Amino acid sequence: MNTEDVIRTFVEYYEERGHHRISGSTLLPPPGDPVLFTTSGMHPLTPYLEGRPHELGRRLVNVQRCLRTTDLEEVGDPTHLTVFEMLGTWSLGDYEGPQSLDWGYGLLTEGFGVDPGLIHATVFGGDEQVGPDTAAEQMWQRHGVPVERTVEDNWWSNGPTGPCGPDSEIFIWTGDTPPQSTPTRDDRWVEVWNHVMMRHRRLPDGSLVPLPQRNVDTGLGLERLASLLQGKNSVFEGDVFTPWRRRVPGLWDLDEPSLRLVCDHLRSAVVVIGDGVRPGNTGRGYVLRRLVRRALTVLWRDDPSRQLGDLPAELVSHTLDHFRQTTDPDEVRRVLLDEERRFGGLLRRGRQVLARPRFQGTLDEEDLHYLHDTHGLPRELVLSLRPRPEPEISEMS
Ligand code: ALA
Repeated sequence: MNTEDVIRTFVEYYEERGHHRISGSTLLPPPGDPVLFTTSGMHPLTPYLEGRPHELGRRLVNVQRCLRTTDLEEVGDPTHLTVFEMLGTWSLGDYEGPQSLDWGYGLLTEGFGVDPGLIHATVFGGDEQVGPDTAAEQMWQRHGVPVERTVEDNWWSNGPTGPCGPDSEIFIWTGDTPPQSTPTRDDRWVEVWNHVMMRHRRLPDGSLVPLPQRNVDTGLGLERLASLLQGKNSVFEGDVFTPWRRRVPGLWDLDEPSLRLVCDHLRSAVVVIGDGVRPGNTGRGYVLRRLVRRALTVLWRDDPSRQLGDLPAELVSHTLDHFRQTTDPDEVRRVLLDEERRFGGLLRRGRQVLARPRFQGTLDEEDLHYLHDTHGLPRELVLSLRPRPEPEISEMS
């Protein structure tokens, strides 16, 4: 089942259950939104979760591209991507959590053929403000699915204030052995789908008030599920990355974590540029700049002659096509090359600055701040430009 098949199966399953497909938005939230990028499928639907009637009714389904910089340091592991797609469903004050979980279980096991013995769930165990989600727990028990209670891990919000609620997460076992332990204790349980019983609003003082309606908001990680269904060990081996894995290793000889990071960041940069962002020193532009520069830092660490100009045009077009973006691929390449040129210039300056006597010894936090604020040299870059200290050899007595 390729990624397009996963999308089609998902959407049709929910259409058969009375949901209307809405088109996903770009990565850019509407003006006035305090968040830089859309981080979840619910994000563009916030007014409707808060009670505004949606013209297509109370049951919705879609595919939404998302960008999460909170996961940036995790990229390189088997499951995290910066830009990813989320399959989402919503009950806007219509059916409740157990129904949502029941359909979710049915789709995973019957629609996608996931072995029921490889599924684990988690539910909200309750805190001083909200009780345990026994309805979700009982639903899982009826299906014979093992379920773990947690507190913080099973509460979802899109920020410190606003709509939020207890959630129930669905995990699939990815280990080579029969399933063991629980999702919080063994990360071979990979989270694929989150069902949020979104019925509270958090106020700035931390208190909770009920939303005008009891919603359900679900989000399923498309690349994760697709690669699992394809029997792959990482999202980078799923079909959306096939052209990248075919072309990039022949171009640049990278170890696996570096290859993943370079592919993730360049692909994400293409999508962000495709949505109209240009590199800059603040806001969205800075996120884009960081993505390109982090990729270049990894590329140049081993071989400073590597160039983004060698990135096959096919990878840019494939990515734009996948996200149905109409930006001219040549324009995307021009933006990437321009940023590469700027960064190259910065590095040359950086080497000159670092050659000054002041920076010959160990660099402290103040030096690193100075280099960043005055010369625009990121910490990661400065450290990569410095000779590695000799490992200390402790004397054995
Ligand atoms: N909004 C929920 C999430 O992003 C479904 O996990």
